[in-house]
Amino acid sequence: MTETKPEPRSELLVNITVNGSKTSELIPARTLLSEYVREYLFLTGTHRGCETAKCGACTVLLDGKAVKSCNVLAAQANGHNVTTVEGLDDNGKLSPIQQSFWDNHGMQCGYCTPGFVIAATALLNEIPDPTVDEIRFNLAGNICRCTGYTKIIESVQDASQRILKGS
Ligand code: FES
Ligand code: FES
Repeated sequence: MTETKPEPRSELLVNITVNGSKTSELIPARTLLSEYVREYLFLTGTHRGCETAKCGACTVLLDGKAVKSCNVLAAQANGHNVTTVEGLDDNGKLSPIQQSFWDNHGMQCGYCTPGFVIAATALLNEIPDPTVDEIRFNLAGNICRCTGYTKIIESVQDASQRILKGS
């Protein structure tokens, strides 16, 4: 019988700025960014759903761009800035997008919501006054099993107007 050798453990030190704070952890090289924020930093607002880059529940901002953190190695974020849903508020005050989702009932169970809020943040940073088609197109990578999407789109439209009016 042939013995199988155990896989060599490959660990590396990563330095990632998360929600404005520098973090530094020794991690297995294959650690996903979603695992890094949840299991090393305890930022559990980033949800894990499909873990195959389909549902968008794990969306975070990487240097301002929305990425599915189950599809990015933490090592790839080394030296970069990551924002999770916990980093969007302003000293405890919800961001306009978070507030709009709340006020417009842009959620039911809420499992998909952090991913939608992050994806909407990236969208409105790039297109401040998007059309409904642009909202649908840019949020197409996020799946919601509850809302039917109408309330989510209304929330993003409302957030856009709040931000444009500076409220
Ligand atoms: Fe990452 Fe579904 S958990 S896309
Ligand atoms: Fe339940 Fe979107 S609110 S999955």
